[in-house]
Amino acid sequence: MTNKTIKIVVAISGTGRSLENMISRENSNKCLYQVVGVISSSGSCKGVEIAKHYKLPLYIDTFKSSLEIEEIEKLREWLNNSKADYIVLAGFLKKFPLLNPWKNDRIINIHPALLPSFGGKGMYGAKVHQAVSKSGVTTTGATVHFVNEKYDEGQIISQVKIEITPHLDFESIGKKVFEKECQLLPETLNLLAEKKLPLEDRSVYQIKS
Ligand code: GRF
Repeated sequence: MTNKTIKIVVAISGTGRSLENMISRENSNKCLYQVVGVISSSGSCKGVEIAKHYKLPLYIDTFKSSLEIEEIEKLREWLNNSKADYIVLAGFLKKFPLLNPWKNDRIINIHPALLPSFGGKGMYGAKVHQAVSKSGVTTTGATVHFVNEKYDEGQIISQVKIEITPHLDFESIGKKVFEKECQLLPETLNLLAEKKLPLEDRSVYQIKS
């Protein structure tokens, strides 16, 4: 492990595909992050099985809209013990509490479209790709952004763009986008580890697809 390596905790709610992708790249010598724990808003999703398979520390909570102070403190303590530098929301469908010291620039989310388009409350998974397909746009992609109190509205850090034929079926869009997400998220984490992101002028870093 180099001293550039950052520790990340990944928060999930479902299949954990992004989690698995991040873990699978950890042994490459280009990887500058290490997954040190998983937070799940469901005790029975596939992502939890992945966390158990890799023997990662696991934190499960329903993340109902109004977390009690004790629950917040329990989560903070777990995160402190994990020594996480960043919290990465990857398919996490609830509001993540903006805890010190991670709030502002240490909690990031990946969204499967080019924000600020096709984002916001209720826009997740297939719903995003259905809206993209219906709209007839010819460019979509994925976005990594800092998390703030509003769904998908935090500062955009990086994006990847892909060309699609207008009204391509949503399943095909989802497949193409996820392939690129598998590149975007690890590359963004590496650049965060190297302190090359976010870009100083707050412009959006575009990865080559
Ligand atoms: C990805 O498409 C990501 O953009 C979004 O959730 C999906 C990953 O969730 N935020 P999962 O790994 O399939 O549960």
